[in-house]
Amino acid sequence: MSAVKKNTKKLYIKTWGCQMNAYDSGRMADVLGPLGYESVDTPEDADMVILNTCHIREKATDKVFSDLGRLRPLKEQKAAKGEKMLMAVAGCVAQAEGDFILERAPYVDMVFGPQTYHELPEMVAKATGAFGKARIVNTEFPGDDKFDKLPEEQSNAGVSAFLSIQEGCDKFCTFCVVPYTRGAEYSRSVTQIIDEAKRLVDQGALEITLLGQNVNAFHGEGPDGQTWGLGRLLREVAKIDGLERLRYTTSHPRDMDDDLIAAHGELEKLQPFLHLPVQSGSDKILEAMNRKHTRDLFFDIIERLRAARPDITFSSDFIVGFPSETDEDFEDTMDLIRRVGFVSTYSFKFSARPGTPAANMKNLVRDDIASERLARLQALINEQQIAFNKACIGRTLPVLLDRKGKKPGQLVGRSPYMQSVFVEAPDTTINSLVNVHITDGFENSLTGIIEKQ
Ligand code: SAH
Ligand code: SF4
Ligand code: F3S
Repeated sequence: MSAVKKNTKKLYIKTWGCQMNAYDSGRMADVLGPLGYESVDTPEDADMVILNTCHIREKATDKVFSDLGRLRPLKEQKAAKGEKMLMAVAGCVAQAEGDFILERAPYVDMVFGPQTYHELPEMVAKATGAFGKARIVNTEFPGDDKFDKLPEEQSNAGVSAFLSIQEGCDKFCTFCVVPYTRGAEYSRSVTQIIDEAKRLVDQGALEITLLGQNVNAFHGEGPDGQTWGLGRLLREVAKIDGLERLRYTTSHPRDMDDDLIAAHGELEKLQPFLHLPVQSGSDKILEAMNRKHTRDLFFDIIERLRAARPDITFSSDFIVGFPSETDEDFEDTMDLIRRVGFVSTYSFKFSARPGTPAANMKNLVRDDIASERLARLQALINEQQIAFNKACIGRTLPVLLDRKGKKPGQLVGRSPYMQSVFVEAPDTTINSLVNVHITDGFENSLTGIIEKQ
């Protein structure tokens, strides 16, 4: 982050949740840049603090309030100097809890949801206005296109960049808040996406990850006036010279269509790793979750993807202890994991979210049973993960070095399979794609030696 110049204002953003939120935090910083705000790494003495929140699992709201409580003295210190610290809550908790946050935390100035970030200049003007204190709650889903109004330049994009192509979700899984916090599915136009991708590559991106809450439901308007799916979009993005790697996340099994699967076989740049959440291996639970597919459909998709791209690997999300999940249902999930073989996974105990259908379901699973299932599932996944990482020893993998390690002289990057790879290398190699001979594999990472080019 750049040094803060004298008459600029300091902006501190804390981000929770998914990559979409990370992308959004970057875009908020871009919107606020022209107003004189520069990003800083700590909240001390900040002129504006934004908590970009996530509402996906329990205690989300509590966490926000405890953070707000911790930040409050900083605001008071600032006020004692006759200065103002604007405190804002953004993201999915803001969308879900709107007014309640302003009520419970009178020192919060602004609460605004994910669809309103392009309106930040107006909101800041009102909150800092000369006419007394105007507190803002903005949880609208405005009809106009947020993406049209966000600035073109992205300041923090980097060598591995995110690009949001789709927002919202129409799937309504019974446990999930996203359709309520992010609203209906919306796809950006192909032209807008390609322009943004080209700008990112011009600014030095070698890797782009296309983002969406349900990214493979993408159905954007193409330059030919037709509706394009994700497969077609990927082929177009892959044409950009200078772009080396392409990924997309997060997908729903139901939206893995033939064209998208075919794209995995055609596009060398599309990395051989796919995050494909399945949640459960039991048809009964999948149905109760309203996932709209069976375990067999999931196996079928995996098989077809492997046929198209034999080196492809998978990660997934699982929920254990969903209401009415029996031992047998859980064993079906373990069986699915054994049959597919994942290289990494996120797994959670079911958390009842207010306003979702699953929150009212009966036959709750006892917490100690859910914890035990989670531990068994995670042990199995860890075994698979270590086995895969060990199997990489002796291979040469292209690694995109994008950050410094903790030890001096150490750089870290990602393999095609999203493993973190640690190498000894001069700082000048950062932000480049290098071939690494893998010498060791651990639970969560690999180490290796850069091969002579
Ligand atoms: N759109 C993605 C995931 C969105 S949320 C999909 O379709 O899968 C990320 C993950 O959080 C989910 O995959 C799920 O595993 C987990 N999750 C969401 N709601 C949850 C809840 N109420 N309790 C526990 N885990 C949940
Ligand atoms: Fe939530 Fe389901 Fe939509 Fe994923 S597909 S965001 S889990 S409702
Ligand atoms: Fe969380 Fe909202 Fe993302 S609830 S996971 S930040 S879409």
